Amino acid sequence: MEFPDELLAALRDARHIEVFTGAGVSAESGIPTFRDALTGLWENYDAATLASPEGFAADPALVWGWYEWRRMRVLQAQPNPAHYAIAALAAGCARFTLITQNVDDLHERAGSADPIRLHGSLHRPRCSACEAPYRLPPGIPDEPEGGRRLDPPRCGHCGAPVRPGVVWFGENLPQTAWEAALQATEACDLMFSIGTSALVWPAAQLPALAAQRGAVVVQVNPGETSLDGYAHYNLRGAAGVAMPGLIRRLTPYRENFP
Ligand code: OAD
Repeated sequence: MEFPDELLAALRDARHIEVFTGAGVSAESGIPTFRDALTGLWENYDAATLASPEGFAADPALVWGWYEWRRMRVLQAQPNPAHYAIAALAAGCARFTLITQNVDDLHERAGSADPIRLHGSLHRPRCSACEAPYRLPPGIPDEPEGGRRLDPPRCGHCGAPVRPGVVWFGENLPQTAWEAALQATEACDLMFSIGTSALVWPAAQLPALAAQRGAVVVQVNPGETSLDGYAHYNLRGAAGVAMPGLIRRLTPYRENFP
């Protein structure tokens, strides 16, 4: 993949890089996205049933079983070169912020410490009533394709069903994470938006906000998105190809990349 010289210069000079990721960054690890034709989760499963407080209240076993299936897929997967390239970017830049909409833990496993999680985590369930964190048993759950009905565990404090630790449609983003994301977005001078359709608000407004604040916005996505109009660079390709390709062109980032 070819990279414009101006983009390489902007990356070399950046003092605060922000990376904003979506499901596409984990696609090459074998984790399905949400909206890609044929393979996207919301093409094959009903979001209103599986990703809403009402759906969970109506059928907790259906919802818990589905998220356990997704957690199993993630635990069987490995980070891909995009996750490693993003971690290398952090190591080579004065200030760096990683913001993810993903609920997997592949960024952390590739070496990115403490990403800002806007949509929660599959790995941090909590009580549906008192919100006490629930400790998952170790190991990989054994779930057949697509999940099966599985009664959620009960909270050790209040006895209510435990729920997945992800943000559902109609719910607010975790406030501390959102405020940290806004702050970094207003301060960064270069922002990557990688593997997101940028359709789900409020997260989707971050690249526009960065552009308004004068940051260089670089999109990495094989397809068209709503960001195409104002991203300064649209790198049309897979994140696992584009991101390693980009950082291999630049010292000091390449020094941190295997
Ligand atoms: P989407 O499924 O909406 O978008 C995935 C994007 O990744 C698409 O634009 C694809 O073109 C792109 N893509 C696919 N393969 C790629 C690759 N190898 N490299 C780079 N890009 C690739 O997923 P999100 O934008 O993450 O919310 O979806 C946003 C939110 O909607 C999710 O966090 C989830 C969902 O409902 C919650 O769970 C709350």
